[in-house]
Amino acid sequence: NANTAALGGVLGQAAAPAQDAAPLTILYGSQTGNAKGVAAQLEAQAKSRGLDAKLVNMADYKPGNLKKEKFIAVAVSTYGEGEPPEDAENLHEFLVGKKAPKLDGVKIAVLGLGDSSYEFFCQTAIDFEERLQKLGAESVVARADLDVDYEEQAEAWISSALDAFEPELKAQQAAGGATNVVNAPFGAPQPAHSQYTKQNPFTAEISSAVKITGRDSTKDVRHIEIDLDGSDISYQPGDALGVYFLNDEARVDEILSSLNIDPQSEVKLGDDTFSVRDALIEKLELTQSYPGFVEKYATATGNEELAKLVTDKAALREYLEARQIFDVIKQNPSEIAAQTLVECCRKQQARLYSIASSQAEVEEEVHLTVGLVEFEAFGEQHFGGCSGFLAHRVEEGTKVKVFSEHNDNFRLPSDDNTPVIMVGPGTGIAPFRAFLQERDAREAEGSNWLFFGNPHFTQDFLYQVEIQGYVKSGLLNRVDLAFSRDQAEKIYVQDRLREKGEEVFAWLEKGAHFYVCGDATRMAKDVHQALLDIVKTYGGKDDEQAEQYLKELRSANRYQKDVY
Ligand code: 2AM
Repeated sequence: NANTAALGGVLGQAAAPAQDAAPLTILYGSQTGNAKGVAAQLEAQAKSRGLDAKLVNMADYKPGNLKKEKFIAVAVSTYGEGEPPEDAENLHEFLVGKKAPKLDGVKIAVLGLGDSSYEFFCQTAIDFEERLQKLGAESVVARADLDVDYEEQAEAWISSALDAFEPELKAQQAAGGATNVVNAPFGAPQPAHSQYTKQNPFTAEISSAVKITGRDSTKDVRHIEIDLDGSDISYQPGDALGVYFLNDEARVDEILSSLNIDPQSEVKLGDDTFSVRDALIEKLELTQSYPGFVEKYATATGNEELAKLVTDKAALREYLEARQIFDVIKQNPSEIAAQTLVECCRKQQARLYSIASSQAEVEEEVHLTVGLVEFEAFGEQHFGGCSGFLAHRVEEGTKVKVFSEHNDNFRLPSDDNTPVIMVGPGTGIAPFRAFLQERDAREAEGSNWLFFGNPHFTQDFLYQVEIQGYVKSGLLNRVDLAFSRDQAEKIYVQDRLREKGEEVFAWLEKGAHFYVCGDATRMAKDVHQALLDIVKTYGGKDDEQAEQYLKELRSANRYQKDVY
């Protein structure tokens, strides 16, 4: 029992001298702010219990301070293939390095946020706990690995973590060792936030939705304009827009009929009542598949084959990779009550899109560059939930629920004279359109260099007219294009970077900020490698020095990524 373990610790440490007192240090590693939100909640609740707590972004934490800690709470999310958020990278790495201190007697509690649709679910939280434990620290509560609908479980975990930490922290404070309970404010003042949030989105109208890839393109990319008039939503270049969508009615009707459920049957979601049809169209996740659905559906329907699949993690992964939740249901029709069905599903999560406009230019509008997710399976064309909605089921006037999500990890330089290099192939162009609009409106003097790539010049040159206009007006000083399939050999943005390596390095030396947006799994890694090679070649550095050079760029916020 965690409480008694903590009490045991109190007895053991009661005589500790006052100067050894340490607060509960809450370290967060957040990309989009969710882990930060949970960490801030933990801090607030700790303080309301009278506990000394300190909230710190992992990016700002000096790992050398670890040896002074006694109580550490970690809230960290996981991205892509089990990777830490950028802000957590240094600490994550430090803990397995030679300089990591012994942490015997240190009490920890770790909470992870992730998305169970991905294989390496909450891997970063797992890593942090394992690494801290290996150094001697001891967990006071079981690690929480939380999925996209984490809010309730996060609250419960916060309570039990604080229950476990409280006795020892209180005893230490009673012994006169309390450090400063009131912490100085840290970080820059946050911009005023809109009343519209993820929990309370604004109902906006689509003002325009246009396909911007050619007829013969292998891709389907849409330029979407949304009217924010009447909301107090404001955003900055680099921010994202959260979008809720409607599931495909035809597919919802299809599964209801295969399950013999009356579409008008009433179901409850929390305190609200809906028809099962409306709940499935508006409120629940039916595209993005994840293990929890199969587990619940197998139990609810007594489907033995699915139950067996659930016990084999690898097979379940493979099964889910080929299917949306729609397919799982359709291929496993069964007797099931409407209410039970909706309880098998998780709440629909808003999809986040990097905003492609600047309010300095478009005022009460927000623009998105949306790549349609599509694939063929079981003889049918399948579409992504939100991209399918935006590509096929909206027109001028369609209502859509949205909120803005701040991203301070992707910002134009505060100094308008600073040059910027932007690497944004495919829909990765989106935030750079916003950057360019902003710099244009501000008449910023800093030079701008854009690298863009896509399969074919004639089909896939997104925002061609605008980009050429900016070249003409002089806003864009340099543009390098990589049309990968217009010649026999593939040419990518990183190849263009390498070709221009000498100048790229010169720009960096002049203080340029370097931005990458788009595909995380391959492109961003290849671009990073190209950058390393450039720094080695033109900066005369070895591997380690080149790594260090990029690390320093990152700590100076001069190398920023928005990758997915
Ligand atoms: P391809 O599909 O022709 O291979 C936007 O998707 C562009 O990114 C496309 O031109 C695509 O090329 C290209 N792309 C694919 N893999 C990439 C990688 N590893 N690095 C950079 N660009 C890549």
